[in-house]
Parts: sequence; C-alpha cells; structure tokens
Amino acid sequence: MGDTLGEIDLASPDSYVERVPFEWFDHLRRDHPVVWHPEPPPNRGFWAVTRYDDLTTVHMDWRTYSSEIGAVSLEELDPEQLEIRRSMLETDPPRHTRLRQICSKRLSARGVGQYEDWIRDVARGVLDRALADREFDFVSQVSRELPIRFLCSILTVPQHDAPRLIRWGDQMIANQDPDIAAVVVDREDTEAYRLLPFRSPVAVEAFEYADGQRDMRLAEPTDDVIQALTVAQSEGILNDREFHNYFLLLMIAGNETTRHTISQGMLALMENPEQMKLLQEEPERIPVATEEILRWATPVLHFRRTAARDTELRGMEIKAGDKVVTWYISANFDETQFPDPYRFDVTRQPNEHVTFGPGGPHFCLGSHLARLETKVLFQELLPRLRSIELTGPVQRIRSNFVNGIKQMPVKVVTR
Ligand code: HEM
Repeated sequence: MGDTLGEIDLASPDSYVERVPFEWFDHLRRDHPVVWHPEPPPNRGFWAVTRYDDLTTVHMDWRTYSSEIGAVSLEELDPEQLEIRRSMLETDPPRHTRLRQICSKRLSARGVGQYEDWIRDVARGVLDRALADREFDFVSQVSRELPIRFLCSILTVPQHDAPRLIRWGDQMIANQDPDIAAVVVDREDTEAYRLLPFRSPVAVEAFEYADGQRDMRLAEPTDDVIQALTVAQSEGILNDREFHNYFLLLMIAGNETTRHTISQGMLALMENPEQMKLLQEEPERIPVATEEILRWATPVLHFRRTAARDTELRGMEIKAGDKVVTWYISANFDETQFPDPYRFDVTRQPNEHVTFGPGGPHFCLGSHLARLETKVLFQELLPRLRSIELTGPVQRIRSNFVNGIKQMPVKVVTR
C-alpha cells in the first residue's frame, strides 16, 4: 500500500485484539475501495474489497471470482492441501450445487422451523443454569453452550458430547489465539498438520467421531443431517474425505459464529440500555432486532475468492490467481447502505446485512438456524432480566477471521 495506507494491517490477528479497527475500513471504503494489501511471506498479498456493492459483485460472479481454485481463507494452500482439505466452501458450481443439495432441505426455514420448541427448551435449560448465579462469564455459561447444544439436537448426537465438540471448534477457529489453541498457526511450526483443516491436530479426533456417528446410522438409520451425509457417502456422492470435511464444516460453521453473535448482541444491549428496555417492553420487536444484532456482530470478518481470469474491479486490474478478500465487517457498516451505521438500532429496517454473505452460491446454509437460535435466545433471556452489567473487561479472540469475544463477565439481577 502507499504511504497513507502504511499503518493499515488487515492481515495481522493482532489488529483485532483490542477492537475492530473500523476507522481503517472507513478510510478504505472512502478512498481505496479495492486496494492491494501486502502480507508477510509465505503469503503474497491480496486485494481488499470493502464496499457493500463490490462484495455483492464478487460473490455473485463465481465464474470470475472462484472458490474452487484457491482456499477461501487468507492461507495459501498448495494443490495437495487444497484437495485434501476441500469442503463445500472450496467448490464452485456444479460440484458445489451437488454438495449443497445434500443438506439444503434440512437446513431450510421449514426444515429448522420444526425444531423451534426443542431449541427453546435447550435455551431455557442453559439459562436456568447460568442465571442461578448472580455473577458469571456470559461467554462460557451462555453463548458457548447454546449453539453446540442446539446443533447436538439437530444432528441427534448426545448432549453429553457437547463439551468435546465445543473444544474442537475452539481449537480450530481460534487457531491464532494462544489462550485457546494448543497449536497457534502464525507463531509455531504447523507443517506436520498442513493437510488438516485449520492446520489443527484436533481435526483427526473430529473425523473419528464423524466415522462413529456414520457407523451408528448405517446400523440404525436416523432422520437428521448426519443421516443425509451417511446416505450421500453410501451412494458415492461423498468420498471418505469429503464426508469428514462436510461434518467438520457443519460443526464449526454452526458453532462459533452463533456463539459470537449472542455475545456481541448481549454486549450491544448492555451498552445501549434504552434499546434493551425497548425489547423488554415490546418483545414482539425481537425478530427485527435479531437482524440488527447479526449486522452489529458480524462474526465472520471476511471470506476470500481467487480470480479465475484477468479482470477489473473499480478500475483496478486484478490478475488471474490473485486473492480477492471481501470484508463483511466493512460492508455491514457501509454508510451508503446503512444510514448512521455505527448506531445500534434494534428497529432498523430495511437491514440487508451481509453477515451470512452478500449472496451468490455460498450464502450461509445455516442462516435460518442461526436466526432462529439468536431470536429464541433473546426471547427467553430478556424477560428474565431486571438488570445486567459488565463486571470486568471484555476479552476478544486474537483472530483476523472471526470477530469473537472469549470472556465477558457479567452481574445479573433476575425478575
Ligand atoms: C450467526 C451465525 C452464522 C454466521 C455469521 C455464518 C456466516 C457464514 C458465512 C459468511 C458463510 C460464507 C458465505 C459466502 O461465502 O458467501 C457461511 C457459509 C456456510 N455456513 Fe454459516 N454462518 C452462521 C451459522 C451457521 C450455522 C448455524 C450453520 C450450520 C449448521 C452454518 C453452515 C454453513 C455452511 C455449511 C456454509 C457453506 C455454504 C456453502 O459453501 O454453500 N452456518 N456462513
């Protein structure tokens, strides 16, 4: 980048430890909406795309901006790594369409709608336990518990496996945070794990677990998402590796993201007590508020595509093979799309945020589930709170990929 851009470092996980550097994104959107951003070796750098409209252009035009010819994260994978670690995320149509169809019906609005009562019961159970104490860590007692327990219900895996699944998700997604990951990717030698998702050794444990779940379903079929994967494997639609990677994708995508949405949403409500009061007095507003919580939280900071051919975006010449990184955290605060974007407004409508992606073939497959989980949690939690306040510093995850909170101590008074 040129001189004025010198201090901006979107690639470093350290840039997000204190807070999201929103002023960098404001600057980029205004003056350099598509700009080449250097990276430390062995990476080669990437195009940073920060405006709302440009994110949509990139994600809709999958023929130009491919998910299949490179990874979808900043990490640069060699062909062997790419092939072994490939999940649905790293495919283009028509391969992608075939993979997505395996689960799309079960994760549709109608498919997950039938779990609403179940999800509500899980939420009540978790809240009963957490709210029994006046002071507790909201992340470990509430946000961390809920999504994986919801997922256990939907995948019909035993609730007592939840702690294991949480640990695997944490180790993989927070692989840049030394407080969480046993092996920290940008700080130590992870060459031995180069063929594993997120370069994380715990992936092997998760694969073995997936095999066990498949074998149980082969002996006695169930009616759930893992059953759909098991059938797809038996029919040769998924090979062993694809089965593993699919299972892992669901586990991870459905866990961390919703967790951070819940934590960020609670934090925003504590920081904006008049908004919390409004939702407590008029709980029928919670479905609309859920969209603002999702925009505000933006748990996934970016995704990446790779240019399949030479092209041009906002006058910049992008070469075939270049990495193109779309920053959701910027687009969700783009003033041309969201008036007064840094105001947390639970009544905001329309609210076409890109938290689940800006459209195109990879739009989040779990969006209906995530929306339902977030809505149900706040519907169950807010009526029970007389007051809630922070009792210590909020600690963020060290990551350039997830916008996550790892600790949020609170004191509550219940009704
Ligand atoms: C608030 C919670 C969530 C957020 C913020 C989120 C975000 C995202 C994003 C940004 C993408 C990529 C979009 C793109 O490339 O255009 C994605 C894809 C995906 N998500 Fe989610 N997600 C969430 C919850 C879930 C849940 C609960 C599940 C599943 C149970 C899930 C499963 C998936 C899958 C399978 C994909 C890949 C879709 C594809 O490649 O076609 N997500 N998600």
